[in-house]
Amino acid sequence: MFRLAKPLSLSVLLLLSACDVQEQQLRIYDFGTPVSEQIYANWDIDIGPDGAGLPAGSGSAQSGEEAYISRCAYCHGEFGEGLGRFPELVGTPEDLIGESPTKNVGSYWPYATTLWDYINRAMPFGNAQSLSADEVYGITAYILSLNNIIAEDKVLDAKTLPQVIMPNREGFIQASGSDIQAKICMKNCVKEVVITSRASESQASSSAKEKEKEIGNYHR
Ligand code: HEC
Repeated sequence: MFRLAKPLSLSVLLLLSACDVQEQQLRIYDFGTPVSEQIYANWDIDIGPDGAGLPAGSGSAQSGEEAYISRCAYCHGEFGEGLGRFPELVGTPEDLIGESPTKNVGSYWPYATTLWDYINRAMPFGNAQSLSADEVYGITAYILSLNNIIAEDKVLDAKTLPQVIMPNREGFIQASGSDIQAKICMKNCVKEVVITSRASESQASSSAKEKEKEIGNYHR
């Protein structure tokens, strides 16, 4: 009896599982909770270059110095000079010139607002998002004053921070379309490629140099 019934039960099962799929598509799962405004606000922390999203609060270099010294200086140095291999935070746009350019707050960052965002989001390294808004304003002000971008007593808040003009503010171009300018050549094309600069002349490692040699040999 069992033997005879088996093929039947199998087809019933198949039918059931087909219904199951349909039912699953329609089923509303009774778990989870809607995302509250508060939870959403906790995730939505990005600050635009124009300062959109900056919270209430304020701080100056004077008020932020203590927090900087205790929370940041053991990696970035008391004067933002960078200890060991930790990045320096102080410099000027001239630091981008030469054989080993360095990106730091004074040389590279185009907006003070995104500096605030970065500190608020990612620092102190290993204990990110543990600073209050006032502390982030104060620490940002402290770093900007170390860079001689603002005065020690300048108070930064949601209104004044976007007004700070960073030294390398105009050093960026809007990227649009392809950055490859070359035109496809179909006839009378150049016979020999002239190499005008080499990665190995700037920062490339010796292994990169070897790789370049290999590529050179390959093309010969
Ligand atoms: C434990 C070491 C450590 C501490 C403490 C620390 N940082 Fe950093 N910081 C880093 C490292 C590592 C990076 C590079 C991170 C990367 O490139 O992803 C960095 C990067 C930065 C940068 C970006 C530098 C640049 O121009 O690219 C800023 C700004 C900065 N930290 C600010 C702070 C501030 C402000 C504090 C204190 C609230 C702080 N850091 C505390 C290790 C640290």
